[in-house]
Amino acid sequence: MTIRKKARYVDLDLCNSCGDCADVCPQVAPDEYQMGLSSRKAVYIPFPQAVPCSYILDMDTCLGNNPIACGKCADVCEKEAIDFDDADELVTREVGAIIVAIGLDVYDPTEMDEYGYTRYDNVITSMEFERLICAGGPTMGHFVRPSDQERPKRIGFIQCVGSRNPKIGRPYCSNICCMNTVKDTLLLADHYPDTENFVFYQDIRAFGKSFEDMFQRSKEAGTRYIRGLPGDIEEDPETGTLTVTVENTTSSGGLERHELDMVVLSVGVIPATDRDKIASLLTLSKTSDGFFMESHPKLKPVDAPTRGVYFAGFCESPKDIKDSVCQAGAASSRAGALLNAGEIKIEAITSIIDPELCSMCGLCANVCPYGAINWQKKEVATVIEAACAGCGACGATCTFGAITMRHFTDQQLIAQVRATLAEDPEEKVFVFACNWCSYAGGDMAGISRIQYPSTNRVVRTMCSARVSEEMVLEAFRCGAPVVLVSGCHYADCHYIDANRQTVKRVQKLWNKLEKAGVRPERLQLEWISAAEGQKFAKVMGQMEEKRILVTPDEIAHAREALKPKKKKVRPAKKKPVAAKEATA
Ligand code: FES
Repeated sequence: MTIRKKARYVDLDLCNSCGDCADVCPQVAPDEYQMGLSSRKAVYIPFPQAVPCSYILDMDTCLGNNPIACGKCADVCEKEAIDFDDADELVTREVGAIIVAIGLDVYDPTEMDEYGYTRYDNVITSMEFERLICAGGPTMGHFVRPSDQERPKRIGFIQCVGSRNPKIGRPYCSNICCMNTVKDTLLLADHYPDTENFVFYQDIRAFGKSFEDMFQRSKEAGTRYIRGLPGDIEEDPETGTLTVTVENTTSSGGLERHELDMVVLSVGVIPATDRDKIASLLTLSKTSDGFFMESHPKLKPVDAPTRGVYFAGFCESPKDIKDSVCQAGAASSRAGALLNAGEIKIEAITSIIDPELCSMCGLCANVCPYGAINWQKKEVATVIEAACAGCGACGATCTFGAITMRHFTDQQLIAQVRATLAEDPEEKVFVFACNWCSYAGGDMAGISRIQYPSTNRVVRTMCSARVSEEMVLEAFRCGAPVVLVSGCHYADCHYIDANRQTVKRVQKLWNKLEKAGVRPERLQLEWISAAEGQKFAKVMGQMEEKRILVTPDEIAHAREALKPKKKKVRPAKKKPVAAKEATA
């Protein structure tokens, strides 16, 4: 692993944090730690509790000394700690496990124009509220309005700004905002008992330990909770007073107007903006919300599908501090268990590449969700066995027959197809089901005693991505009236997102069938989860209805039209000239 250690431009060992450099520095920039509510110098300590407590130089703001433009900090530093020639350093480390804890970003409410954030000075975010009321904040904890530095007396909090709002692409609950607002109202009630607080909400989610108690205390302290999210905010430019219009859905009063001195937007959280880089480095997949997907939501909640990688905190889903700490503990325990194991077990079902048959095309490497195939242009691909999880997507993609899977070889699966359809194939619904969801869905239907037609015959593969074109075509050649390829729901594939390959392959097959004059409806694709016994039965019923409609002529036509064509010939490889031959 290579880590970039960013240049500080101030020698840590020499700097004694005297602050002389910042005193003479002429350059200022908004202080990120104070949410831009105050400024800092180009040479600064990131925040008061920073460890190490040493200055750093922000080169984007600094005038620099090359060509000599400033250099005042260097002149004044008696310890000679300023080093303009410092550069980023690349550090290489060998690691056995990685914990991903890249945190979150906060929603920027500027796009919700109805709330006037950045247009109205006294509309602030909950993050800015934290800085304003903090003793270490820009106002030393004196809570004042940004517009006139007066203390606000009537404060409104608007919940779910950037959360639970599908219209702006943020349908999920941010998990922390309700209790953060409850805490803020209690802080205000404690510091300034004469303030009037209003909370505009759609639901208050107070589900954690003692949270309901906090919520009740906030109400007892006089905070008015109004169910309804404001439609817009208007500002009186003279006084800075804000008028909030809201439909109170708990009273029969309908529309209400509230005049407030300040509005706090309780902003939601969003996945870290640079997560894609980490995702591609570690072959991680994401949920539709953009958070990293765990290996299993109940059984492996801190494991990434890529073995040896674990999650802690927000990168996996929105959660509060307590849950983040729990997850961090669990992730480090999981990593510790792996590192102390001495030896590790790997999957028995992995891919094998025959170097003699490999055409060096690299298609297998492209479809592997784990990055477990080593391939360079004009080189034979190889499998990294410790990384291979055994989905079989590579084997189904390789048209040269160079890849197969232990225990699920092409020959074994094709033999199963032929054996299943050896007798009365026209009476059978042929099903390929993935091990983890669809096959288990069939089991669920069975143990739940759900009735469905008994005509289906199921061949199990580890993942639906293991089902190759050839296997499906062979089923039709053997006389199957209908074929079903079935796997886990999109985000649930046991092998990250291998079933996306299933979709591509089935779409290709539909085109192929159509060209061959075979009705594409005879091949179906369905997602059935392990808990969906009911759905499994329903799909089997629908397949049976389709099977009955297939005529003997259609079956005979498919047998003929889908006959295998001439095999692809592998491009000849240049053989190295043997040493003896060369001498001769
Ligand atoms: Fe079920 Fe991949 S494991 S589709």
